[in-house]
Amino acid sequence: MKIDLSGFLLSELRDMMDEYKKAKSAGDDDLAKEKAFACAALNRRLASNVPSLEEKYMGHADRWEQIATGCSPHPANRRGSRNKSAGIGSRTRSQAEEEQDGDGAFNASSLITHSQVRWDDIGGLDEVKRLMMETIVIAGLKKPESVKPWKGILLYGPPGTGKTLLAAAAAGSLNASFFDVKADKIVSKYFGESSKLISGLYTAARSHAPSIVFLDEFDALSQSRSDDTSDATRKLLSSLLTELDGLQDKKSDRLLLTLAATNTPWDLDTAVLSRFPRRIFIPLPDEAACREIIRIHTESLDISSLNLDELGAECVKKRYSGRDIHTLCQQAMWTMIRDENTELHNLALLPFDELQKRSLKVRALSMDDFDSAIARIKSPVTRADLDLFTHWSEEFGEDFS
Ligand SMILES: Nc1ncnc2c1ncn2[C@@H]1O[C@H](COP(=O)(O)OP(=O)(O)OP(=O)(O)O)[C@@H](O)[C@H]1O
Ligand SMILES: [Mg+2]
Repeated sequence: MKIDLSGFLLSELRDMMDEYKKAKSAGDDDLAKEKAFACAALNRRLASNVPSLEEKYMGHADRWEQIATGCSPHPANRRGSRNKSAGIGSRTRSQAEEEQDGDGAFNASSLITHSQVRWDDIGGLDEVKRLMMETIVIAGLKKPESVKPWKGILLYGPPGTGKTLLAAAAAGSLNASFFDVKADKIVSKYFGESSKLISGLYTAARSHAPSIVFLDEFDALSQSRSDDTSDATRKLLSSLLTELDGLQDKKSDRLLLTLAATNTPWDLDTAVLSRFPRRIFIPLPDEAACREIIRIHTESLDISSLNLDELGAECVKKRYSGRDIHTLCQQAMWTMIRDENTELHNLALLPFDELQKRSLKVRALSMDDFDSAIARIKSPVTRADLDLFTHWSEEFGEDFS
């Protein structure tokens, strides 16, 4: 899966702009210069991370460089240079700052990524996959007025069971604009402004439709309202509810699907929950799914000597998630590789182009490779956790396992 850094880079940029402004108002031009250069560098990284906005970020980067070179390097000249720069320098600076502030206070378009994940990359979860495929297809087909596709699907379940993977596959299969929103980061980083972010996000999603808005760690965004809920959280919740209500009415012919994922559905606000009539439990994999996940994560290696039935049963017994099985396969592979390449570490002294001429020795994976890994990997999920999911599902969810 491609790693999207744009959200992270924008956060860094905002921090850096704040530091620049602080340095400037404290009259520390040396520091301001350093921060302005850092803003330019972050804009260049954003430009290469978000090809659709490359030109815009490169423009910001150029202007931040002009600001940086306009900052006086000598503290002794500070006062004078500030006055002097009230001409072209300050005009350029305020323009750049304003434009960049507009970005964002958060530029939702920069959250767009295009996923490479396909349905086949997901082992098990056949019913869930089918439901999601149907939802997407219905959104695209011509249909009677009263047939409305689902606007939102909530995926909940223990960690590592494939919730993010499902959202990425939905976007990947459609080549849709995938707005990957890590709710917990937004709440902590943009607290107080996150309600503005939500409306910006949905405006961008509508204009880039077909779009999938993926609200990961959803509980962070919509914690149950309690007495100590701050004004900011209340505003954020109400803007989220408005958006969740409005989507289909505004553009019924284009897909705008909100997928939300959480490990703790019981923490969700009930008003938010009611906007997600489809609540799908993503369980730990059963034996058949475990076998499939092992096959997916050992692709291109010889697994003919493995007893997949035995491994599948062991994974279920140990309450492994897809993520645990992925780790298991990685560890088994490493055991095999070390076994076959005992002198591997000695090759570290060779230059890289020399290394590229040699090949790693591999053999078929064996049950022994897996046994030692199974002994080491412990699932973080307890029986009590699973009971909580069962109870919540009985009351509020749908189960496709
Ligand atoms: N059903 C699956 N098939 C194949 N691989 C899986 C499956 N489930 C999980 N994995 C592996 O585990 C990794 C983590 O899965 P994913 O991020 O989708 O879990 P998650 O349910 O979103 O977890 P969390 O609740 O912690 O966010 C995936 O990148 C993949 O390697
Ligand atoms: Mg996830």
